[in-house]
Amino acid sequence: MKSFSKRTAHIQSAIFSDLAVRKNTLLAAGKPIIDLGIGSPDLSPPLHVITALKHALNNPDAFGYADTRGSISFRSQAAQFLAKRYGVHVDFETEILSLMGAQDALSHLPLALIDPLDVVLIPDPGYPIYETSVYLAGGIPVRMPCLEKNHFLPDLAAIDHDLLKKTKMMVLNYPGNPLATLAPPAFFSEVIDFAKRHDIIVIHDAAYIELVYANKSAPSFLAYKGAKDVGIELHSFSKTFNMAGPRIAFAAGNKDILQALYLIKSNIDYGVFPAVQEAAVSALINHDEHIDKLRHIYQERRDAFLLPLHKAGWHITKPDATMFIWAKIPTLESSRTFTFRLMDEANVICVPGVAFGPIGEQYVRFALVKPTNELSDAASRIAEII
Ligand SMILES: Cc1ncc(COP(=O)(O)O)c(C=O)c1O
Repeated sequence: MKSFSKRTAHIQSAIFSDLAVRKNTLLAAGKPIIDLGIGSPDLSPPLHVITALKHALNNPDAFGYADTRGSISFRSQAAQFLAKRYGVHVDFETEILSLMGAQDALSHLPLALIDPLDVVLIPDPGYPIYETSVYLAGGIPVRMPCLEKNHFLPDLAAIDHDLLKKTKMMVLNYPGNPLATLAPPAFFSEVIDFAKRHDIIVIHDAAYIELVYANKSAPSFLAYKGAKDVGIELHSFSKTFNMAGPRIAFAAGNKDILQALYLIKSNIDYGVFPAVQEAAVSALINHDEHIDKLRHIYQERRDAFLLPLHKAGWHITKPDATMFIWAKIPTLESSRTFTFRLMDEANVICVPGVAFGPIGEQYVRFALVKPTNELSDAASRIAEII
């Protein structure tokens, strides 16, 4: 057999598969593993969403190919959601596109927007698909360090001018994974100004925009003047509505970017399962109460997890948002060594920060995807071995 695509050489799977192998070994040995690795929600979607899905399954039309753009009711509800929650006004006909999860856009946007050897700026640390999809499209991902001393924001002024000439696109994620930082008020305006000056497309991944704790709020990139001239924003149902499995999200913003993404997607997929779109419409119509409850649950989880660790002297910054704890390693171990030690000695699984980029090397990420009591247990076990 001839060798497979060289593109796959850039795709990182080693860390996650090593973690899975060790987890299975420990489980086989009867260890009481608490897995805070992958950020897959353990909570259910609101009941009315499940009812809407069941109802939609009775309609024979629900099983046909879908329109890749998304149904009119899905797109119009998505537009109304943006207006109500963020004061963002978009035309659902041209400025909303349904997605099979935000991942769908993140993986296909470089194919739609860049040519081989074009540069794409991505955050370091950042969600792994940002880098992988650029490699798959033949582009060059360049990491923007998002350092604690800069409030985890990229220093746009520090980016090399020659590099900017080759840069076509930039990905941002606030609040994000693994960085739970909220974008400060001036940040997106600065980004828009920068993007206009250097002719760069901005993709704002807003997958965690609704998971914000008490008294805080996360702005939409699209709420800022000029945003639609330069970019789009991705809104996912996976975390907001605990609908990670059914695969649904939407992109909103610049119609030319959405049209280019649609062109790629319409050659690849046939849209989101119509019954799932109907469930998502139900989620969007009745979102307030659910989102308030969800925020409360994650805030409680965050506090339950951090309490034993803070008591033990591990000074982890309390995040204002997301379902993640991004924790600076309290020892001199590498993130991989520390992660495996936590697994072996405390039977708690986390993700080594290096999986998100070189700047993550001093950190680990815990996902708050277990009930409060299990999170307290996990943290107490960790507290004993750090
Ligand atoms: C930052 C970020 N963006 C996008 C996604 C993917 O979201 P979706 O399930 O909508 O594809 C994730 C999933 O964990 C994520 O962490």
